Amino acid sequence: MQRDKKINRGNQTAQKAGGLADLTAREFRQNGAAIPRRHWVGGDPFATAFFNSLSAIFPQGEAFMVRSMAAWRGKMPPKLDADLRKFLEQEAAHSREHEDMNGALTKSGYDISALEAVIGKLVARFKGRSDITKLLATACIEHFTAIIAAEILENGSHLAGADEEQLPIWIWHAVEEVEHKAVAYDCFLEATKEWSALKRVSARNLMMFVITASFFINRTRGQVTLLRQDGFGRIAALFGTLRYGFAKGGLGRNVLKPWARFLKPGFHPAQIDDRHLITKGERLFADLQAADKAKQQPAERRKNIRLPKAA
Ligand SMILES: [Fe+2]
Ligand SMILES: [Fe+2]
Repeated sequence: MQRDKKINRGNQTAQKAGGLADLTAREFRQNGAAIPRRHWVGGDPFATAFFNSLSAIFPQGEAFMVRSMAAWRGKMPPKLDADLRKFLEQEAAHSREHEDMNGALTKSGYDISALEAVIGKLVARFKGRSDITKLLATACIEHFTAIIAAEILENGSHLAGADEEQLPIWIWHAVEEVEHKAVAYDCFLEATKEWSALKRVSARNLMMFVITASFFINRTRGQVTLLRQDGFGRIAALFGTLRYGFAKGGLGRNVLKPWARFLKPGFHPAQIDDRHLITKGERLFADLQAADKAKQQPAERRKNIRLPKAA
């Protein structure tokens, strides 16, 4: 079940101290799940805006990562190549299901076209860039998605009170992000095994700063755009967004430490051992699926399934 090992990638040894889980592409279909409650995350407009703004960028963002990683198919050692193929399956499914969720968001009254235009422009900037640049960008984005996913699974407060129609997609997605967090990074290490350690760490950290600035600015703007549609003024939306992310217990604040670990020379995603979160998320996902199935059954046959409070 585990991939505990120490790997040597050319002139840099990455310490896989924590180990990694094997990858599984899980079957999941959102099936046009409705968003009956506008602020579906516990009635909180700021939390809802955060998750909605992420969903808005996933289809194009993850399609970019799929294209970037697909360029390396067949060019990696067999085990990594097999993981890469699973990664592609998982990300393609995430992109497809968030497209579905975005359709429901639009039906619920949000206009996400401005957010889609921004991610479209960002992705277009990578056109004509080298395969290694796109791979490195993917490895950095993957660190982001992995630490956010781990925080969501670890800390139930972020999705507390979320509507059960929307909760499964986030738990499913979070589990697979934690699970495949090292694939792009390992491909980057393999692709750059001839590089000096200094060149590799400099390129990696520079790209991480670019991705971080872009993520922070565009996610904040995206949330403000959605909150303006909820009737908030620009200043109230901006301060509310920053408070949501960075006040005590905020998701942004809680991921600062794992974000910074990426910058250390010799970093490898496996050094953060969060396999227990995959188990936790899988359990919650199974409960949610069982509850959904029970809902489809005639009332007298329904079992009393208790939904946990988010993760
Ligand atoms: Fe994903
Ligand atoms: Fe991912």
